[in-house]
Amino acid sequence: KVIVQEIVTSTMDEAFRLGNENCQEGTVVCAETQSKGRGRLGRIWTSPKAKGLYFSIVLRPSIPLNCLAQLTLMSAVALAEAIEEISGLKPLIKWPNDILLDDHKLAGILTELRAESDQVKFIIVGIGLNVNTPLHQLTSGASSLKVAAGHNFDRAQVFQAILRSLEKWYLKLLHHEFGEIMEEWKKRSATLNKRVRITDSAGIIEGQAIDLDEDGALLIRKDNGLIVKKSAGDVF
Ligand code: BTN
Repeated sequence: KVIVQEIVTSTMDEAFRLGNENCQEGTVVCAETQSKGRGRLGRIWTSPKAKGLYFSIVLRPSIPLNCLAQLTLMSAVALAEAIEEISGLKPLIKWPNDILLDDHKLAGILTELRAESDQVKFIIVGIGLNVNTPLHQLTSGASSLKVAAGHNFDRAQVFQAILRSLEKWYLKLLHHEFGEIMEEWKKRSATLNKRVRITDSAGIIEGQAIDLDEDGALLIRKDNGLIVKKSAGDVF
């Protein structure tokens, strides 16, 4: 079920409401613009009207809380693959799930959930993709399909390609084919084998991003040789 609205605060809010009302798994809420679009780590997601795709999907996988990172990586793989299929461009994934083109951010994914005593009630995957957004409406460091490819795209077609790809990769996740998801993520990674700096509430860590562990956490070799594992944070 796909619900399309003109304006909402955030499609995350709408999806949460529907999730609480026991909507069917796979319900999608999409809006032409958002007055309070949000990104990871409390950031704002600007949503110029009728230029991008802003939508949230309600999922009800029966997975434990510690498998959530896998869902995050899966969404990034699905989104990158769909963008490549529709545009011929080759986006990369910055850990955990920013979609980049030439080092500029093209799309972002926000995962939020409702859980009770370690049991996931539902998960909302929110996707924002700059499709036909002109340069002057992009925030600094961002790109759009239009800016990168030099022409406009049919947003409905892009939306369909993303939903098809998400369904394909989500089914792989449900069938425990996580190895394949990791492989695809690594092939498209803008982060692995690079020198990185990660900031989170615990502070700053610098080193070489060497691999992902089986839970999707990033493994970093610090200059003193110690390998540390990061499950959240911001990578530079
Ligand atoms: C990020 O890169 O920080 C994540 C951005 C996620 C933006 C999308 S747009 C649709 C959905 N509604 C929101 O308020 N946020 C997500």
